[in-house]
Amino acid sequence: MRRTNMIITIDGPAGAGKSTAARMLARRLSFEFLDTGAMYRAVALSALRAGIELRDEPALARFVRGVSLEMPAGLVLLDGADVSVAIRSQAVSDAASLVATSPAVREHLVHLQRIIAADRNIVCEGRDQGTVVFPDATCKFFLIADAEERARRRHRDLAVRGEAIDPATLMETLRRRDRQDATRPVGPMKAADDAIEIDSTGLSSEQVVERMEAVVLSRRSPA
Ligand code: C5P
Repeated sequence: MRRTNMIITIDGPAGAGKSTAARMLARRLSFEFLDTGAMYRAVALSALRAGIELRDEPALARFVRGVSLEMPAGLVLLDGADVSVAIRSQAVSDAASLVATSPAVREHLVHLQRIIAADRNIVCEGRDQGTVVFPDATCKFFLIADAEERARRRHRDLAVRGEAIDPATLMETLRRRDRQDATRPVGPMKAADDAIEIDSTGLSSEQVVERMEAVVLSRRSPA
């Protein structure tokens, strides 16, 4: 059945500016916004708190089915409690990339993402949104940036949280996460064949969003 709602996907590596771009683009278009990385982070946080061994696929598969995750606008609720801040730590970033290799976790979250987006005009950002979750999306973007710039952005985000990580270590963990995200067998980070690649290195968020908006408007069917 043909969709009547419009889905825009933004995929790409950590620190490329996906969340900011997705949020700003959604606001400009009066669309909703879904940060799917936050969902993997919430599952990871929940598993860490429960002492689940993150490489134990059967244990994770059982566990994820019982996780109560809600994504009301701008919030991430785990068992009803807001974990929007707690999921941003470096420890949770690493754990999220690990639980994201689990086919059971991915299946569960992909299903949830499709339910959330079902009848909405929405901008969804992550790693597999244009390839696996919404292959029929109207506009697909793959946002990239130099590793150095991505590490600088992550460093700034973590510093705001009061978490100091030295830039060399950060760069190494970013590279490890990229490698893990791009090489996992299920839902790897990858540009869809019909995605438009944008390199945000040296661009402001406004410039990135302007480029995206121009593409979206050119594809919007006349009312
Ligand atoms: O985007 P963010 O850095 O918050 O994502 C955290 C982790 O969640 C990523 O490193 C990736 O492993 C995983 N993820 C994913 N698929 C998505 C979104 C995020 O595997 N659609």
